[in-house]
Amino acid sequence: MPRLRRKRTALPELAKDPKAIINPSDPSEYKGNWKKIFGNEQPIHLELGCGKGTFISQLAQKDKHINFIAVDKYPEVLVSTLRKINELQLTNVRILMLDIENIADVLGPEEIDKIYLNFSNPWPKKKHHKRRLTYPSFLQKYKSFLKPGAEIWFKTDDDHLFADSLVYFKDNGFQEIYQTDNLHQDDSVDNIMTEYEMKYSKQGIKIKFAIFQYIPDTDK
Ligand SMILES: C[S@@+](CC[C@H](N)C(=O)[O-])C[C@H]1O[C@@H](n2cnc3c(N)ncnc32)[C@H](O)[C@@H]1O
Repeated sequence: MPRLRRKRTALPELAKDPKAIINPSDPSEYKGNWKKIFGNEQPIHLELGCGKGTFISQLAQKDKHINFIAVDKYPEVLVSTLRKINELQLTNVRILMLDIENIADVLGPEEIDKIYLNFSNPWPKKKHHKRRLTYPSFLQKYKSFLKPGAEIWFKTDDDHLFADSLVYFKDNGFQEIYQTDNLHQDDSVDNIMTEYEMKYSKQGIKIKFAIFQYIPDTDK
């Protein structure tokens, strides 16, 4: 579909599917209510910046005992995610169109067990670092809805974002439990490739990956 047409049709397509939640006008309707929304007691995992949904759709197909919320701010990519989950007839995924800046408005204390951050925009200029999804101000928001012991799984192609993020996590109450600067060389990780991961690994770029655990006691 040409890009311009998709731009016009994406939002109406999302809006007519009850699995998609679009910029909620009353976020308190969602906060603390996700188990009711999914209709079961399964743990809930988030992907922040899901893009076209290759990763989340495959993961949700594999882990049916987990519920997933796929978050992005652009309807043009979210509509691809929605189509993928509908093709696979998945009932354990909801799509949330929202600026991640506002993510803490829709999630209540201890509602989330895991966050995936895949190929978040690196924002290389110092004056833009605060927009990084691993920046301390974002980590503080995440802590308002993570369960103690919850994990953040972080993958990137970008050396600078990776190095800086290791420090952001450690300084903000997260303990590193795994780290590699060449994920595809490690067979012990059951990895699902994202769209950007396929693109960058084809170019020979090594994929950096780390897992952090939220330990409230170590919090400053
Ligand atoms: C570089 S792409 C990576 C997409 C996908 N995770 C992958 O690995 O292929 C980053 C995605 O994050 C989304 N994103 C970045 N900042 C965001 C924000 N503040 N709120 C919502 N989505 C955001 C972008 O719209 C884009 O789809």
